[in-house]
Amino acid sequence: MPIADDTAVIPHTARLLSGKPLADKVFAEVADRVSRLRRAGVVPALATVLVGDDDASAGYIRIKQRQAAELDFESPHTHLPADATQEDLHRVIAGYNADPGVHGLLVQYPVPAHLDYDRALQSVDPDKDVDGMHPLNIGRLALGLPGPLPCTPAGIEALLAHYEIPVAGREVVILGRGATLGRPLSIMLAQKRPTANAAVTVVHTGVPDWDRYTRRADILVAAAGVPGIIQPEHVKPGAVVIGAGVRYEGRRLLPDVDESCAEVASAITPRVGGVGPTTVAMLFRNAVDAAERLSGRG
Ligand SMILES: NC(=O)c1ccc[n+]([C@@H]2O[C@H](COP(=O)([O-])OP(=O)(O)OC[C@H]3O[C@@H](n4cnc5c(N)ncnc54)[C@H](OP(=O)(O)O)[C@@H]3O)[C@@H](O)[C@H]2O)c1
Repeated sequence: MPIADDTAVIPHTARLLSGKPLADKVFAEVADRVSRLRRAGVVPALATVLVGDDDASAGYIRIKQRQAAELDFESPHTHLPADATQEDLHRVIAGYNADPGVHGLLVQYPVPAHLDYDRALQSVDPDKDVDGMHPLNIGRLALGLPGPLPCTPAGIEALLAHYEIPVAGREVVILGRGATLGRPLSIMLAQKRPTANAAVTVVHTGVPDWDRYTRRADILVAAAGVPGIIQPEHVKPGAVVIGAGVRYEGRRLLPDVDESCAEVASAITPRVGGVGPTTVAMLFRNAVDAAERLSGRG
């Protein structure tokens, strides 16, 4: 978990794409919509479920609960012990699914190794799935139907739009095809809308010469979770670089994109405070969408 914003150490040759201004704008919109719902007698509620005692996961839950409080959401929470069974977890999820006072539901990833996260996710009511990761919602995304969007990819598309970086018609290369990031982002940025509509290429371990592709990208998204995998020689001069992949060693954040890429890129996300804040903002946008939809006030 980030402990400080240390963007000051980045050599500022590239424009820094901080996620905070966009996140603040989204939070302000969400707060307005929450107060409209409350005036209409609806109390928006985002429930969270944590299993076990992983420090980082507990930290993420605290961030989301703090943000929920700031935005005037109720945030019921269940903390199951590390030895909880799959049935225990499903019982909690079923309770929140059935509760008409709960509009959004989030099961914090990861869960202890003996539990099946995907099965748990599949048991969340798709209309309360604020992560946008339920298979039905990924299906809706792929078909271009309305539904909650996966938060990190949605945050990246919104970040590019916020900084008025043209995407349509340009070459986007994504390093990583993971289910939470690279794969849904590749679908989104290839879709036909003004903030997307790009020529998208996805590279991964099956493409050993992946740098052949990254070096021609107008927009390069690192989504591998391999610290320092993107070095300046992998970036086309003047490209836009979005660093989304990170690994944590304890509380130390190790990003995919080496800081020296700022000397080659025209714009780049900072080491801390780039994609992260936009992910949280999209979560709350999904939550208020769900509250409006489920209360019939959308
Ligand atoms: N900033 C945020 O808010 C946020 C949110 C969600 C995720 N993330 C981060 O984003 C990253 C990706 O998440 P994910 O869930 O999609 O991860 P994932 O499922 O582990 O996917 C990682 C992808 O990177 C590829 N890859 C790994 N090492 C590689 C290498 N040496 N060369 C080429 N490709 C390589 C993998 O290729 P194969 O498919 O061939 O194995 C895979 O497609 C993680 O670091 C995660 O922490 C950040």
